[in-house]
Amino acid sequence: MKRRAAMIGLGHQAVEDHLPGLAGSGKADLVAVCDSDPDVLRAQQQAHRVPGFTDVRQMLDEVKPDFAIVAVPHHVGRQVVQECAAQGVHMLKEKPFATSPEEARGLAEICKLGQIELMVTLQRRFNPIHTSTIGLLDQIGTPFLIDGQYTFHTDDPGAGWRGDVRQAGGGCIIDMGYHLIDLLLWYFGLPDRIIAEFSAAALPDADYDAEDTAVVQLGYGSDLYGSLLLSRWMAPKTERLHVVGTRGSVLLTKGAVQRLNLDGTVAEELSRPHAPASAATAQIDMGGLWEIPSGTVEDSESILEAVYRETAEETGLTISEITGYIGHFDYQNSRGGTTRQFNFSATVEKTEPVILTEHDAHQWALPTELPEVSDAVRNLIAS
Ligand SMILES: NC(=O)c1ccc[n+]([C@@H]2O[C@H](COP(=O)([O-])OP(=O)(O)OC[C@H]3O[C@@H](n4cnc5c(N)ncnc54)[C@H](O)[C@@H]3O)[C@@H](O)[C@H]2O)c1
Repeated sequence: MKRRAAMIGLGHQAVEDHLPGLAGSGKADLVAVCDSDPDVLRAQQQAHRVPGFTDVRQMLDEVKPDFAIVAVPHHVGRQVVQECAAQGVHMLKEKPFATSPEEARGLAEICKLGQIELMVTLQRRFNPIHTSTIGLLDQIGTPFLIDGQYTFHTDDPGAGWRGDVRQAGGGCIIDMGYHLIDLLLWYFGLPDRIIAEFSAAALPDADYDAEDTAVVQLGYGSDLYGSLLLSRWMAPKTERLHVVGTRGSVLLTKGAVQRLNLDGTVAEELSRPHAPASAATAQIDMGGLWEIPSGTVEDSESILEAVYRETAEETGLTISEITGYIGHFDYQNSRGGTTRQFNFSATVEKTEPVILTEHDAHQWALPTELPEVSDAVRNLIAS
């Protein structure tokens, strides 16, 4: 059964990403749109032929969607999250999750109390270029240097709510920088040290206080360090992350990732045409799905040895016995090829504690009462 989705906030990001993403979804249908600006609302309501509302609460009351995609200015986020949580409506919320640590803690509490799932839109996590980078980073020896840059030029870097710290929570760091910072958290975890220099000085006569330019230095232990240059004043438009290791480097740019030899020649490369709606669709269709612990068989081991190892690595559980083979399914992997996943049943020495290294949560489920899993997993386990 398809989920009923409402779109809240119909500005740039809704039109560019989320509405096309929903149109391509096999799991959700758009059932209503909402924007506080009646003219903006009218245009999207006509384009999508669904009921439209200028008030979030009224829309939730009348339409009762299963989930809402929230793409509003940063200062409006808290109010919309509160409204949705009060009505039991799950959310896919545009970054940032919150504009301050205090607001983040408050929103997390609201979601917990309301038993609401809130997923933050970080579409690079659903882009094959960015997921492939993880495998390439394993091949450059020990990474020790990070050089990141996200820049573009706009004539008015302080325009609208984005120029006002009280509304936006910050400037280029919380805006585009959020994506680069999330990549670093994903690939390397939380840094131990951060120093940031930033300014709102590019247009001296303009009245804005959200930083237009920033340099962030960061360090992990004594082995890995680097910097991010962020600017919405500095041309050319650039989005890149270069990670340098002892045996080579990985250069991630918009739409391509390369593994470079030490002399800068390209050892391998993966590129992809710009397809913003595709990651938006994947977030809706794949985000929040439960998976079976799984991984790749390494050269030196058998498939059964991999079952023992991957289970221990991903869950902290020790398998006492592999009790059977339950079948396989194929899926398209992040390099665009096909991966075949072989699946086994097993018993474990103890069912607790589960220590997760790659997933957000775990649950034990009966084959007849599976939570949201892919069709392939459901067919395999339920049959
Ligand atoms: N993931 C990305 O790559 C990416 C890119 C751009 C923007 N964003 C994020 O998307 C969000 C929206 O950005 P945008 O560029 O679309 O902004 P925008 O200003 O173009 O659009 C925001 C829309 O929200 C509407 N709105 C304001 N208050 C509202 C309310 N109370 N109820 C309903 N609608 C309301 C406005 O009228 C406007 O149409 C921000 O969080 C931003 O950081 C993400």
